Amino acid sequence: MCGIIGYTGSDSAQARIIEGLRKLEYRGYDSAGIALVEEAKKPLLIAKRAGKLANLEEALTKESRASAGIGHTRWATHGGPTDMNAHPHADETGKVAVIHNGIIENYLELKHELEIRGHKFKSETDTESVAFLLADELKKTGNLASAMRAICKRLKGSFTLLAVDSDNPRIIVGARRNSPLVVGVGKGENYLASDVSAFIAFTKSALELGQDQVVEVSPEKVEVTDLDGRIVTPHAYEITWDSKAAERGGFKHFMLKEIYEQPKAVADTLLGRIKGEKVELAELKDIKIDFERILILACGTAFHAGLIGKYALEEWTHTPVDVELASEFRYRKPVLSNKTLVITISQSGETMDTLMALRHAKSLGATTISICNTIGSTIPRESDAVLYTHAGPEIAVASTKALLTQIIAIYLIALNFGERKGIKLPNMTGELLELPNKIQKILETVEPLREMTRGYKDATSVLFLGRHVGYPAALEGALKLKELAYMHAEGFAGGELKHGPIALIENGTPVIAIVPPASSEIAAKMISNIEEVRARGARVIAIADSSFNLEIPEIIRIPKSHELLQPILSIVPLQVFAYEMSLLKGNDVDQPRNLAKSVTVE
Ligand code: AGP
Repeated sequence: MCGIIGYTGSDSAQARIIEGLRKLEYRGYDSAGIALVEEAKKPLLIAKRAGKLANLEEALTKESRASAGIGHTRWATHGGPTDMNAHPHADETGKVAVIHNGIIENYLELKHELEIRGHKFKSETDTESVAFLLADELKKTGNLASAMRAICKRLKGSFTLLAVDSDNPRIIVGARRNSPLVVGVGKGENYLASDVSAFIAFTKSALELGQDQVVEVSPEKVEVTDLDGRIVTPHAYEITWDSKAAERGGFKHFMLKEIYEQPKAVADTLLGRIKGEKVELAELKDIKIDFERILILACGTAFHAGLIGKYALEEWTHTPVDVELASEFRYRKPVLSNKTLVITISQSGETMDTLMALRHAKSLGATTISICNTIGSTIPRESDAVLYTHAGPEIAVASTKALLTQIIAIYLIALNFGERKGIKLPNMTGELLELPNKIQKILETVEPLREMTRGYKDATSVLFLGRHVGYPAALEGALKLKELAYMHAEGFAGGELKHGPIALIENGTPVIAIVPPASSEIAAKMISNIEEVRARGARVIAIADSSFNLEIPEIIRIPKSHELLQPILSIVPLQVFAYEMSLLKGNDVDQPRNLAKSVTVE
């Protein structure tokens, strides 16, 4: 979603802001803009353009002398990606400028009121209403932070706002509700940003802002208050990721880097949580285990992690588990109680659908745990407990290492809760600890798959087949191909083929089959499914361990593992297949069209 950065210090604000926006490009955007406070009492210098950052840089014909300013990359929600709709938005005099991430749900009501006051709107955005509202309030209070507090009380919906006022050249004011905002604390300079990537190259000291808080920064000072002006002490933390971690590290794309980081991401997520045959999760020690039902809520790839985790969670905690799309749950009237444990899964911790579903579940009395990869983000902050995955920054829009670590997190929760419930469990800790090496082995032997992918470049559709835990893996394989290669793809449960989908099979139809270990009770059924589609002309690629001995031309071997852990291995070739296909299609691997890394609108 939108990228936001504010800088105030002694260096060139233009240079720092443009560099920060470049680090935020991965969030997905379709226009960019900047507002610089050059001189007190003079109108702000504002430049904004549709398209990529390069268009904005072209518009900045000379280096500004400003030492404070705000910058924005926009992912369109209200109004198309045009120069006029790009942020910042300013009042008619150019004295106040605002940038915004989120959606102001009552902007039309505000717009109507502001038009009656005589304001002339030029854009189709919800944010322009905020700019005029803030300018009018500033006339009353004479202080930007007080004006911001006042208008936040009138805004409904989600927002990260940054504002500058040409009468106070070194001050930037920010506010947040349901949308990320973090303070970067430097020496004689300070940053406000939507995430730490924007300023990590300059400082690793950060302050976490809470819901409905307003922050005022100058080069020397950071002041945080609630909406009533009461001073708040924000949580300070040191960022553990260095800027290299957020760089590509020599890989061609972030996605490839993150695929190859999976062994370490899984190892780091297991680190310190396995003691012998036991799983210890200090983060969840206060969660009562008297729940009668578990409900997992998530979106996209995180939803697939939930579908995979369900099998182990049910088996190891003897508790019914449902997995539901957050965007669907949000508008249902579900029957929950304080005996329902809700687990949300979100890499970014800012996905609006998941955040709103979490709130809905909390309002119905559920206990909530979040599985998240982004420290200090909104979803974990609003959960009763959080189990962080330690995958490191996931920059590519297509989620890879976050998925594997989300599945690991669910398995850790299942084993920990099962142990606490006194359930006799299989000894899984050894198997879990072997996963990083097994993933590494796949990555070292996956070269033939890159070649094999070329044979499917012109396919019009690719089908993915799986059963039991292999079925959600098939869904994930299809999603990866859709979002990266822009190809039609569909995941099926093997047992469903005969109920309709087999009509799709014709000569040459590509089918990727995720084959369970031969010891599985569904192994024979999966073999039958493969034979059924091959008999009708399908070209099958099997993802299988060495126990699979069907004579078919294209097999990608994965190491043997416990059946419930197999998706963690079988998904890796599916990621590589989609990556290779994206390359063959000449697509933007790290920022596929129409997609954003964190969907912070509903
Ligand atoms: C997956 O490759 C996509 N990037 C998308 O489905 C993503 O998993 C989904 O939007 C959820 O994001 P989150 O994990 O940050 O909540």
